[in-house]
Amino acid sequence: MRENSPATDFERLADRAIARREFLGGAVAFGASAFVAGALTARPAAANAEWLAFEPVAANTRDTITVPSGFKWRRVVSWGDPMWSDGAAFDSATRGAGANQERAFGDNNDGMALFEIDGHSVLAVNNEYVNFPVFYGNRPDAKPVGADDVRKAKAAHGVSIIEIKGNGAGWGLVTDSPFNRKITADTPMEITGPARGHALLRTDADPDAVRSLGTWANCGCGRTPWGTYLTCEENFSGYFENRSPAFTPPPAFRRYGIGGRNYGYRWAAYDQRFDIARHPNEPNRVGYVVEINPADPKSTPRKRTALGRFKHENAELVIARDGRVVVYLGDDERGEFLYRFVSARRFVAGGDNSALLEDGALFAARFRDDGTGEWIELTPDSTGMTSKAEICIHTRMAASAVRATTMDRPEWIAASPGGNEVCCSLTNNRNRGRKPNAGGDAMPVGGPNPRAGNRYGQIVRWIPDNGDHAASGFAWSLFVMAGNPAVYGDARAGSPNVTADNMFNSPDGLKFDSRGGLWIQTDGNDSNRKHFAGQGNNQMLLGDTRTGSIRRFLVGPRGCEITGLCWSADRRTMFVGIQHPGEKGGSHFPGGDGAVPRSSVIAIARDDGGPMG
Ligand code: FEO
Ligand code: CA
Ligand code: CA
Ligand code: CA
Repeated sequence: MRENSPATDFERLADRAIARREFLGGAVAFGASAFVAGALTARPAAANAEWLAFEPVAANTRDTITVPSGFKWRRVVSWGDPMWSDGAAFDSATRGAGANQERAFGDNNDGMALFEIDGHSVLAVNNEYVNFPVFYGNRPDAKPVGADDVRKAKAAHGVSIIEIKGNGAGWGLVTDSPFNRKITADTPMEITGPARGHALLRTDADPDAVRSLGTWANCGCGRTPWGTYLTCEENFSGYFENRSPAFTPPPAFRRYGIGGRNYGYRWAAYDQRFDIARHPNEPNRVGYVVEINPADPKSTPRKRTALGRFKHENAELVIARDGRVVVYLGDDERGEFLYRFVSARRFVAGGDNSALLEDGALFAARFRDDGTGEWIELTPDSTGMTSKAEICIHTRMAASAVRATTMDRPEWIAASPGGNEVCCSLTNNRNRGRKPNAGGDAMPVGGPNPRAGNRYGQIVRWIPDNGDHAASGFAWSLFVMAGNPAVYGDARAGSPNVTADNMFNSPDGLKFDSRGGLWIQTDGNDSNRKHFAGQGNNQMLLGDTRTGSIRRFLVGPRGCEITGLCWSADRRTMFVGIQHPGEKGGSHFPGGDGAVPRSSVIAIARDDGGPMG
């Protein structure tokens, strides 16, 4: 139908983008010219033209995992599974007490990475938050009722580190492995980098501002070439409460939502750290990237304040040509920014790289409408702030000061293997073109955020100038604009590489496999109605950034988000996260038959045992 309709806004935008890239010398700046034409104007390439052959699956609303024929999946681990033999098996009636959760895999698994350590497969998994109707489903009003319920939730957050064993689609947790570890909202952390010791981080319990307790709201992740795991603190604000009417939160709290929406965890009632009236600096000690050494279960996780403080999605790390470490970072809130950290020192293979993330420069991205952009360094000079420490604590305000581009909620960022292409999911933004962000920065329609009231999201990609991740400039384009071509014929239909057969909304998880395939995971509206009719449950798709093709590989169970992706060392198993099945009821995944729905990690393999990525 769209072929016969007038050019959509997006097609006009795409045409402009193409003309621009040709002007820039498309082949030079972007690789092959097919990349440009294919991605933005051509019809998707035939499925068997790509490295992983499969028949795309249809959207559906079934309460299970759907993968193409020729592939199989099995559950690996779920919320509440004991990690040690002294833990109790998951109890559907009580959903576990605090003591059980302290010995068990956390809830709402999100980003994850697999490490091979002395012949052991060690999986580090974020546990982002909990869904009250499921987690507290044993309580009459599905809310925490006392100290033990709070203890249980704090132990369900953070990071679960587990040894797993198996092959193909059959993997399981190794109970009592010496690598097994729980990092929770109470685990001691070392504060490192520019904000260490700063007055804004000092508390009664930690007057030197060097040691904080806990990590929570752990969303996406990253990994370093020196074998550590990066966990990213995202929606940390709603755990704090103002329990005194006399206390007026400092103005900076508003930008971060602290003292605003309270998620209802009631942690402040039992742990005064979370009462901002009593401990107004506690919120300044969270909102960072935390580095964890999975090889040493006794190691202290390190908060890397040099990477800035905001609602961190993930941390995609690449080594620049000169050996410096570059970490791409997104702040997932409407109208917030994209960031880049560049280390002061260089990575040395086999050397001591343990302090590389302590010291470096932080930048925010500014996109121009002409398809170019630049990284603006956040310094006292450029921001008007007093110190680097202040920039690392009030990073959002620093980026506002340099007029970085307000984005449509940056979620995961993924860098191509061995290459120089970087993609970022901009999941959606109902306020685009309608209101400013929380700091008062305008959110105009344009650049990589081209639709007002953006309901479906898009994926932006950029190539650093000269292929150098440490360069200050880059060229950008859109890989895809999600939409619904079955309902709309205008810009809401999405870009031409979105069809009624592969459509989706709200791209979120994003990762390149080792062969250059771009895996897209969704966290969107799964109502399957109106604007989202025909899109079914949340899903995972495989995109090809050379041709523009996007094929649906997996559909999740009802009410879930698909998030978290990694591979076994032999690349024959793909691990995928199924977060909060039955978020709004209606799911019994993975147990089936009336079971309590449980967030889970699954393993996927080919029937022929071939590579999965
Ligand atoms: Fe936890 Fe922005 O996703
Ligand atoms: Ca996410
Ligand atoms: Ca999301
Ligand atoms: Ca979610």
